[in-house]
Amino acid sequence: MTSQRSIGASPTGKTLVESFRDALSRREAKSARRRLTILPQTAVDFSSNDFLSLSTAPAYRNRYLAHVNNTPEFFPFASGGSRLLDGNSAYAEELERFVADFHEAPAALLFNSGYDANIGILSSIPQPGDLILYDELIHASSHEGMRLSRAGRREMFLHSCPVSLREVLKAQIEQDSKVKDGSRNVFVVVESIYSMDGDVAPIKKFLDVVDELLPLGNGYFIVDEAHATGVCGPKGAGVVQALGVQDRIFIRVHTFGKALASHGAMVLCGPETRDYLINYARSLIYTTALGFPFLASIRTAYELLSSGETESLQDRVQKLIGHLHKSLATLQIRQSVMFEVDHFPTSPIFSLRTSQPRELASFCQKAGFVVRAIMPPTIPDGKERVRVCLHAGNTEEEVEGLVETIQSWLDIAPAQRGTKL
Ligand SMILES: Cc1ncc(COP(=O)(O)O)c(C=O)c1O
Repeated sequence: MTSQRSIGASPTGKTLVESFRDALSRREAKSARRRLTILPQTAVDFSSNDFLSLSTAPAYRNRYLAHVNNTPEFFPFASGGSRLLDGNSAYAEELERFVADFHEAPAALLFNSGYDANIGILSSIPQPGDLILYDELIHASSHEGMRLSRAGRREMFLHSCPVSLREVLKAQIEQDSKVKDGSRNVFVVVESIYSMDGDVAPIKKFLDVVDELLPLGNGYFIVDEAHATGVCGPKGAGVVQALGVQDRIFIRVHTFGKALASHGAMVLCGPETRDYLINYARSLIYTTALGFPFLASIRTAYELLSSGETESLQDRVQKLIGHLHKSLATLQIRQSVMFEVDHFPTSPIFSLRTSQPRELASFCQKAGFVVRAIMPPTIPDGKERVRVCLHAGNTEEEVEGLVETIQSWLDIAPAQRGTKL
């Protein structure tokens, strides 16, 4: 017999949907509930990851349309299946070679997103018993990959801190003779530019620590260049190539949904690693491959990068970064207001740290500037902020308008602020 309670009710007496409501209320109470929002098209974008403003650039649009219209062979728009079945094409393989050459990598493998790439890499590459050392601020997709990984242990080191990496690695070497004798692989997982803090990782210093402590060569770097792609380095090739250390990085991940105005990601690696991923990365194997429209848009973006046409956009972003940096330094901050600017000199991502990020973001949005409050669990507790991203298409006047708006917000007495907004 089926009782009333057993229909849709858990042993706690709550239905599934009631427990969803409770969970959402708990988030609401912590000001951490996420919502989908659509902001007016006329608002000034200080939020998206479209750093080069390529997604609205006529040069990009025209070249893309020419690709789609003039591709000599007949290309169906849909890929028709997984890369391993019907979803592969000469176009996709040629695109991989083009991107690998641009990034001075031996080989490249296309994934449907950076999320899929990080999951595929970290769930399959570390072997049973291997050790993963990761920066405390790496992206959620890398955490997902590590969760699925067969690696024996994973240890966190402090954000962008070579001293912390050294301490953590030293402790592992002392505990585990296999790390020292080179028979256990050690993966170091970092990003080149961090999505929320916008800071550039000290990759060379990390490499020096690993070279010194693991001289037998069992240290492998995995660097996610999601936020550096198109924005940093020679022709936008990323931080690793700016440093000239591409030969020392085992795997690089470049994603196309940010500055490259497209979608998908490329894993840069050696040919055997590429082959291994094709065989073992489930986020590549069990999903329909990107269709031609996305391949063509990735191709378009890389042609613009390699021809140097995006360099002026990179320069423009750097100019605006300098302007915003200086303008923010002129803000008059009342002592009673918690407000700090966190910014790495060359980064298009700024963090405006305040205890009232939602209020500040909403004040700026009402003034016509799109900025977002970033709350836990996306970032650690106590690190709430408003994230501001600059784009090649922003103007100096827009930057000044944003800073004036922030000043107006700071000028409102904190005690009244909650009611005035
Ligand atoms: C550092 C980092 N890696 C990976 C991803 C995921 O990339 P994608 O948006 O292509 O799935 C993101 C995107 O938010 C990111 O910031």
